[in-house]
Amino acid sequence: MNQPVVHSRPPLTQGPAWEALHAHYQKTRTLHLRQLFNDDPQRGERFAVEACGLYLDYSKNRITAETIGLLLQLAEECKLGERIKAMFTGQKINVTERRAVLHTALRAPKEERIMLDGIDVVAEVHAVLEKMADFTHKIHNKEWLGYTGLPIRNVINIGIGGSDLGPVMAYEALRYYSRREMTFHFVSNIDGTDFIEATRDLNPEETLFIICSKTFKTLETLTNAHTAREWVLSKMGDERAIAQHFVAVSTNAEGVAKFGIDARHMFGLWDWDGGRYSMDSAIGLSTMLAIGPENFQAMLSGYRAMDQHFRSTPFSRNLPVLMGLLAVWHNNFLDAQTVAVLPYEQYLKRFPAYLQQLTMESNGKHVTLDGTKVDYQTGPVYWGEPGTNGQHSFYQLIHQGTRLVPCDFIGFCQALNPLEHHHDLLMANLFAQTEALAFGKTEEEVKAEGTPDWLVPHRVFEGNRPTNTLLAERLTPETLGCLVALYEHSVFTQGAIWNIDSFDQWGVELGKALAERTIPELESPQEPKLSHDSSSNALIRRYRRLKKR
Ligand code: F6P
Repeated sequence: MNQPVVHSRPPLTQGPAWEALHAHYQKTRTLHLRQLFNDDPQRGERFAVEACGLYLDYSKNRITAETIGLLLQLAEECKLGERIKAMFTGQKINVTERRAVLHTALRAPKEERIMLDGIDVVAEVHAVLEKMADFTHKIHNKEWLGYTGLPIRNVINIGIGGSDLGPVMAYEALRYYSRREMTFHFVSNIDGTDFIEATRDLNPEETLFIICSKTFKTLETLTNAHTAREWVLSKMGDERAIAQHFVAVSTNAEGVAKFGIDARHMFGLWDWDGGRYSMDSAIGLSTMLAIGPENFQAMLSGYRAMDQHFRSTPFSRNLPVLMGLLAVWHNNFLDAQTVAVLPYEQYLKRFPAYLQQLTMESNGKHVTLDGTKVDYQTGPVYWGEPGTNGQHSFYQLIHQGTRLVPCDFIGFCQALNPLEHHHDLLMANLFAQTEALAFGKTEEEVKAEGTPDWLVPHRVFEGNRPTNTLLAERLTPETLGCLVALYEHSVFTQGAIWNIDSFDQWGVELGKALAERTIPELESPQEPKLSHDSSSNALIRRYRRLKKR
């Protein structure tokens, strides 16, 4: 494959904005949020933006108007606007795989045209959406039955990475809107326990498997799919049962047919949509089966609203751009190595896990688009747990530890399940945490409470811990679409600044290849001749010895 043409760019760290940001950081590094808020009584409203029903308060970050000005200058110097346009218009910005990046086409309105290599991708997207809706209606209306005539009550999604994390997250997030007479399960791990536990209480006659794999080549997914096939056949004993109990979501029609799934029961995907950007495609078939086509459409409209905002709003008021630039500020100037994502909404309990793939598979890169090694940090580690659970485990480190952990707090003004005053307590905790992290508690304040001198240092909170707060009215399918698109475009913004390919994932290949080589060494009846390093050889020998006991 010839080397792709990449428009060269001056090294990031030598650009005027980057240098100015460094100087600015040195000048402002001792500023405290207490002082910034004292100096500007309007700060809380000044550093806040709202779009598509999401309110972003970014005032509790260590920034001034000058910081934002310089970050915006950085975005201009990195030609963020051109990059956005290139993505939306289908240019092949995934340079190492020579692919367009068109997840935004998945939610484009029917009347829009996006041409790629002479084909209108929007028409194709809508054809698949219609096929999904038709299938969903058939399942819901009991027109599609299991092989023995029983209605489908259980759906098991088999997939991994983007073919699992988005669907599980969306199912959990939108469970409130889901059909309670059906059950939904997600099998991803090659560890047999995942499959066994998911299926142990289910009747194969009432169970539908969705085999989700963009490539239809992934070891975990194909292994689990074959196990599922055996599980269905062991009960029904007839190959013809497969047609009623298996559908596939993939780009690989040949692989799907080889597995034995009828081409009519395959829902299409495209190589221009990366796995981690695909939960709103047919990969979301389990989501549609759970919440219905109308709610799925509402989710797409939320995505679409955020896409339009990202594409057309000046950067100074653009939510994903601001969030992306703040992430760069924290990562590259304040030297923060991680970001905690803290949803104060139980239904978003899988959101941090979903974001881990979105952010870290996208931006965990060590070279720029033209292959030059970067001399700055790229993607931070994303992690988190729903509030308030985290407060009783790891928040201690965020408040008083020696590491800086910028946090994204996410909350909603209305509870989906109002229960006495639970929701006020939940939200009071969210607001209290961001306040405590920003302002802390000084030595004087601790002493004034009558704390003995020896205990004072332990009870001091330095504060000055940066946070974003995202607040929305209510968690709906539409809000979820907005929220996911917000993070997708924030990741894009960061990748554009770092000049990396946010859409490939070469880093997953080596481990996969080594596992393929190791499998026969674990399974062969004869003692294999091992030629790994001494550590791996010893571990493999020990495993072989002990597994026989
Ligand atoms: O191994 C990483 C990866 O390629 C992800 O990028 C992807 O989401 C996942 O594997 C699953 O791939 P597939 O959908 O092709 O099975």
